[in-house]
Amino acid sequence: MSTVVDPVLRVRDLTIRTRSVELLRGVDLTIGRGERVGLIGESGSGKSITSLAIMGLLPDNVQATGSVRLGERELLGTPERELARVRGRDVAMVFQEPMTALNPTMRIGDQVAEAMLIHHTQPSRAAAADRAIELLEAVRLPDPKALVRAYPHQLSGGQRQRVVLAIALANDPALLICDEPTTALDVTVQQLVLDLLVRGVEERDAAMLFITHDLAVVANVCEQVAVMYGGRIVEAGPVNEVFRRPRHRYTQGLLAASDLAVDPHSGQLRAIAGSVPAAGRFPEGCVFRSRCWKATDQCRAEPPWTGAPHGPGYACWHPAQSEVIT
Ligand SMILES: Nc1ncnc2c1ncn2[C@@H]1O[C@H](COP(=O)(O)OP(=O)(O)O)[C@@H](O)[C@H]1O
Ligand SMILES: [Mg+2]
Repeated sequence: MSTVVDPVLRVRDLTIRTRSVELLRGVDLTIGRGERVGLIGESGSGKSITSLAIMGLLPDNVQATGSVRLGERELLGTPERELARVRGRDVAMVFQEPMTALNPTMRIGDQVAEAMLIHHTQPSRAAAADRAIELLEAVRLPDPKALVRAYPHQLSGGQRQRVVLAIALANDPALLICDEPTTALDVTVQQLVLDLLVRGVEERDAAMLFITHDLAVVANVCEQVAVMYGGRIVEAGPVNEVFRRPRHRYTQGLLAASDLAVDPHSGQLRAIAGSVPAAGRFPEGCVFRSRCWKATDQCRAEPPWTGAPHGPGYACWHPAQSEVIT
């Protein structure tokens, strides 16, 4: 991620706190054109807060410092009026639950067309309506000419998420953020939606930030991965390297607990002991030390980033040896 010249997204030292707790500390992320970066970590690690900061959708009770740049534009501290012009045009988002993104009382075709009309990316209502049919066709929805007249409740979950994707792609965004986009869907349609997401960003040479707790999906979809725990990026790098030679003990634990590391003999999954603390309850020093099987007294001090500044590397006092896991 450090080698990207002219990145689409450049997050530096992003720190987010409420009055009483720190939710993120010193987060760095870089995504270039056409690059797909996975952001992984258990529930409560800070993934969604990161994505909301990038979308300019942080809740009122938090304060953010650092920098979030989309192309040349700094988004942190930008007034809402200006952010509203960026959101849905230059950066779009697909959330876990499609119904939160759709208006239940508005026809599908009008919702897709509206996404373009509010950003003036189509010259007329008729042009936007035609384009809406093409977009629905591109996400493989059956009979789009009839579908435009339907309401969201008449569609299945997988179909609704494809409508959300059509809306997200409508203005050819430079960056698409997906936060657990297939978690709420039937396994049978998950792969279809993933394929459509990848195809949609590839066709536009767009950057993608893909948030999930599912490592197999990241291995499928992304070239780069950042591992988050306790509001920090604890390890980052190419998926091939990080998943085959995890250095941080948290990454190692995640892999061991995932489908990617099913024990070939017993077929059993291993989970990381304990659970993610609430925000503000992480230990001082290494945030993972309360659950780490390798922690020592040294881990009471914050581990430095080992690797390229803002790029591939890890923050762990007792990293795993770099033997390849096969
Ligand atoms: N507005 C908020 N005020 C206080 N705490 C919050 C707020 N939003 C999220 N949190 C806390 O921040 C932590 C990270 O949350 P989140 O980003 O949603 O995690 P993830 O998406 O990785 O599951 C959690 O402990 C969550 O309870
Ligand atoms: Mg989340």
